[in-house]
Amino acid sequence: MFHQIGVFFMSCLSLYLTFCEAEDYVLDDRSGLGRRFDGIGGLSGGGATSRLLVNYAEPYRSQILDYLFKPNFGASLHILKVEIGGDAQTTDGTEPSHMHYENDENYFRGYEWWLMKEAKKRNPNITLIGLPWAFPGWVGHGTNWPYDFPDITAYYVVSWIIGAKQYHDLDINYIGIWNERKFDSKYIKLLRYTLDKSGLQQVKIVASDNLWEPISTSVIFDEELSSAVEVIGAHYPGTTTVTQALLTGKPLWASEDYSTFNDDVGGGCWARILNQNYVNGRMTGTISWNLIASYYENLSFGRDGLMTAEEPWSGNYVVESPIWITAHTTQFAQPGWRYLKTLGHLEQGGSYVAFTDGNGNLTIVIETMTHDHSQCIRPPLPAFNVSAQSATFHLKGSFNALTSLQVWHSKLDFKRQNSILFKQLSPMKLSDGTFSLDLDVDEVYTLTTITTGQKGAHPAPPSSTPFPKIYKDDFNVRNPPFTEAPDFADQTGVFEYFINLTDPGPHVFTLRQVVTQRPVTWSADADQTISIIGDHNWQNLTVTCDIFIETAKTGGVFIAARVDQGGEAVRHAKGVFFWVYADGTYKVTNDIGGQIVLAEGLSGTQAGVWHTLSLTVKGQYATGMLNGYPLWKSAVVLQPKNGWAAIGTNTFELAQYDNFAIEAE
Ligand SMILES: *[C@@H]1O[C@H](CO)[C@@H](O)[C@H](O)[C@H]1NC(C)=O
Ligand SMILES: *[C@@H]1O[C@H](CO)[C@@H](O)[C@H](O)[C@H]1NC(C)=O
Ligand SMILES: *[C@@H]1O[C@H](CO)[C@@H](O)[C@H](O)[C@H]1NC(C)=O
Ligand SMILES: *[C@@H]1O[C@H](CO)[C@@H](O)[C@H](O)[C@H]1NC(C)=O
Ligand SMILES: *[C@@H]1O[C@H](CO)[C@@H](O)[C@H](O)[C@H]1NC(C)=O
Ligand SMILES: *[C@@H]1O[C@H](CO)[C@@H](O)[C@H](O)[C@H]1NC(C)=O
Repeated sequence: MFHQIGVFFMSCLSLYLTFCEAEDYVLDDRSGLGRRFDGIGGLSGGGATSRLLVNYAEPYRSQILDYLFKPNFGASLHILKVEIGGDAQTTDGTEPSHMHYENDENYFRGYEWWLMKEAKKRNPNITLIGLPWAFPGWVGHGTNWPYDFPDITAYYVVSWIIGAKQYHDLDINYIGIWNERKFDSKYIKLLRYTLDKSGLQQVKIVASDNLWEPISTSVIFDEELSSAVEVIGAHYPGTTTVTQALLTGKPLWASEDYSTFNDDVGGGCWARILNQNYVNGRMTGTISWNLIASYYENLSFGRDGLMTAEEPWSGNYVVESPIWITAHTTQFAQPGWRYLKTLGHLEQGGSYVAFTDGNGNLTIVIETMTHDHSQCIRPPLPAFNVSAQSATFHLKGSFNALTSLQVWHSKLDFKRQNSILFKQLSPMKLSDGTFSLDLDVDEVYTLTTITTGQKGAHPAPPSSTPFPKIYKDDFNVRNPPFTEAPDFADQTGVFEYFINLTDPGPHVFTLRQVVTQRPVTWSADADQTISIIGDHNWQNLTVTCDIFIETAKTGGVFIAARVDQGGEAVRHAKGVFFWVYADGTYKVTNDIGGQIVLAEGLSGTQAGVWHTLSLTVKGQYATGMLNGYPLWKSAVVLQPKNGWAAIGTNTFELAQYDNFAIEAE
């Protein structure tokens, strides 16, 4: 104890030449207020990050949504940003487009509509944002670029906004350009013009969801562009901005941030950036990628969400620390409140911000996250020191007469793994508008006049279990709001429920791959389509599926086991792929690209006929059956040792699947 005090004195003396008395901080609104607070949110998509959430049974699914969106309960998010599905791989999967083809329109695909409605049900004031990552091939007329035909792209995006209103009564508040890709000023102006012409003046544009530059400079020097753009949104800004961004005079947002594994270091990252994005970079909105980790954990950036819900089969979910860190701000300051001008860094490290509603309400959020306990995935975090300290706050102006504040406390405890998360303490009494706090490291405090804060709780969810070893889906039982079969996670292409009314049975209800042209991609989609399912640890298993090739001559489909990767690496997926083709041949390959051939020969398969494929892998050997008869035996498989099961096609082509089954050891 004595030793610690000694060290504390030493560092105070050497660094600040003070006597280590409590530092004083003034919170005052007399010289005006800071920027408008626009809120804190989560991003569903970019891509397919909420895929497994929709397959949770009730009541668990609603409980999870409460932790995310219900006011005064958990994260109580102000903003929900969603991907406008573009039929392409956008990090952890593919999300379906509302327009697969030029003359196609359907506003019931995927789960983002459902998610927006669930969010809105809980918080009617939630801000909704849409952003495309990728586009169906026809939008680019076969090029990998959406700006060659900017009028088509604008029409495509505006249709999504109109469909949201028409079919789901959802008002989209903001719309983006093209995620983390080049912007085109001409396109942004055309998008603004198309919105206005469609009666959507209230829908504002965020640009450019990439870096602060060059969009800021373009906005400064182009008046028409400036009037088209409402918000400058940058990704992973590391809490800082640039002069040009400030000179635009526009609201600045971290329109994508966080992306960090959601343990307590993730919680520390989130606490630090939520405060310091404003303190250092004047950002008034921060959006977490992603909203919720609801994708197979072995895909890219596993568990980089505010909470985890990756086991619909068990119902297990985990309310991780970032949820409660979010609550420290979201439950006590609302979009439309203003930051105070008096805020900043604490003398011994950490930061404080303050918000007011302009009616005398005050919310102060203090964080003392240490460097190693608050590192985000990117950008690199420069060194800094934080130590225990006392802080005395003096409230002036409108807040001078306050006599008490509600207190909420978190302490991330890395030694005993026993963190305190969002705990209400006794109210703080103020005398003459002054209060003092002893701050330890890795803490968050909220002090507020708002009395409605609550740490919401549902009964503990079921415990975690692996994906079931016996799994069957005949695609006959359908959950009406969803177009995708449970637990299948598309990695290239889109696999949708299909009804063939002219089929005499038994293949009326099937699953169909529907993307027929390479999309305007965001990451490197494979040249084949693929949807994965199951447990990445699986080694020995049998996959069986009825398949229907629709493309004569050149068509082909596969079933697979031990598929080792998806997401942005899907082109490089290895596994055991059993292909059959419309030309009457088969092939067994070790890779999705079909280059590493383990076996091949004649199969007699053709388009327009249902066939049953069965693939068994055990140890170093794989065996395949066609229509119940062995087609090939004992292909030697050395790598990979484990992975998911999968289905897919040879090219971007139509094909169907039925009676899918897995038996794993
Ligand atoms: C929505 O905003 C209005 C106006 O600010 C407010 O009165 C109302 O309480 C808010 N509703 C919810 C559920 O937060
Ligand atoms: C898959 O994810 C689990 C859980 O995070 C992890 O332990 C394992 O190492 C991952 N496997 C691969 C091959 O990445
Ligand atoms: C704070 O806000 C509440 C409503 O949320 C309001 O009733 C109250 O007057 C405001 N001001 C103070 C100082 O609490
Ligand atoms: C942090 O503290 C250590 C030990 O006192 C010192 O050597 C280092 O320079 C400090 N780092 C910064 C960034 O202040
Ligand atoms: C629908 O079923 C009929 C009868 O089996 C078949 O001829 C036709 O090809 C099927 N159509 C599609 C799109 O699958
Ligand atoms: C898979 O089968 C091989 C060969 O029978 C066996 O050595 C291995 O332990 C099995 N793996 C699992 C996870 O059961």
